[in-house]
Amino acid sequence: MKVWAVVPAAGTGERLGGGMPKAQRMLAGRPIIDWCVSALMQGVQGIVVAGPTEITECFATPVTRVDGGETRQQSVSNALGAIPTDTTHVLVHDAARPLVSAALIQLVIATLKEYDAVVPALRVNDTIKRVHEDVIQDTLPRNDLWRAQTPQGFRLSLLREAHARAADDAFEATDDAALVERLGLHPVVVPGEQTNIKITTAEDLDLAETIVRARA
Ligand code: CTP
Ligand code: MG
Repeated sequence: MKVWAVVPAAGTGERLGGGMPKAQRMLAGRPIIDWCVSALMQGVQGIVVAGPTEITECFATPVTRVDGGETRQQSVSNALGAIPTDTTHVLVHDAARPLVSAALIQLVIATLKEYDAVVPALRVNDTIKRVHEDVIQDTLPRNDLWRAQTPQGFRLSLLREAHARAADDAFEATDDAALVERLGLHPVVVPGEQTNIKITTAEDLDLAETIVRARA
C-alpha cells in the first residue's frame, strides 16, 4: 500500500473574507494549509497541494504543488495528475479542515485495507428544515442523514476513473465520494470528528482558534 494525499487549497475564501485565500489565512500563528500538511505528512508518503505559487511559502515541509482549477473538483483533478504512478491509494483532504487529527488520518488509511472508498462522517443530530426565503417549507427525516468530512480515502485508480467520468458528463459535486457514488459504488463511512470543522466563515475561524487553545 502506497498512500499519497491531495489537498485542494485554491479558491478565494469569499465567505471567510480577509483579503487573501483561506488556505493562507493564519490559525493560531500558522497558515491554515500548514496545519493540514503537517497532519497529513505523518500518515502518507507524499502530498500534492493544489493552489497558487505563493502557497509554497506557507509550509516548511516540501510538497508538490499544482495550479488550482476553477472549482474544487478541478483542483483535485489537477492534483491527482501529479501523483506518482506506483501509488495505490489517495486521501483527499480539504485545506479548509486544518484540525484533522492523526488518529482520523490513520483510521481512514486502515479502512482502505478493506474498502475502496472511505468517508469520515457524523450523524446529523439537529432537526433539519427546508427553508425558502426565511420560511420553513418542511422537515426532513434525519435518521439517514450524515455530515461528510475529509480526509476521504480511495483506491487511486477508482478515484481517477470517477473524476474522468464526472468530467465527461460535466458533473460537479462538492466532495469526491459523490463522484464514486455516481459509478454505482457505495463508500463506507467511518466516524468523523466533531472538532474536524470546515472553516467557511469568520465564526468558524474563531471556533477553530478556541479548539486549538483548548488542546494546548
Ligand atoms: N477549493 C479549491 N479550488 C477551488 C475552490 C475551492 O481547491 N476552485 C478548495 C478550498 O481551498 C477548500 C475546499 O476546496 O479547501 C472547499 O472549498 P470552500 O470551502 O468553498 O473554499 P473557497 O471556495 O475558497 O471558499 P468560498 O466558497 O467561501 O469562496
Ligand atoms: Mg467555494
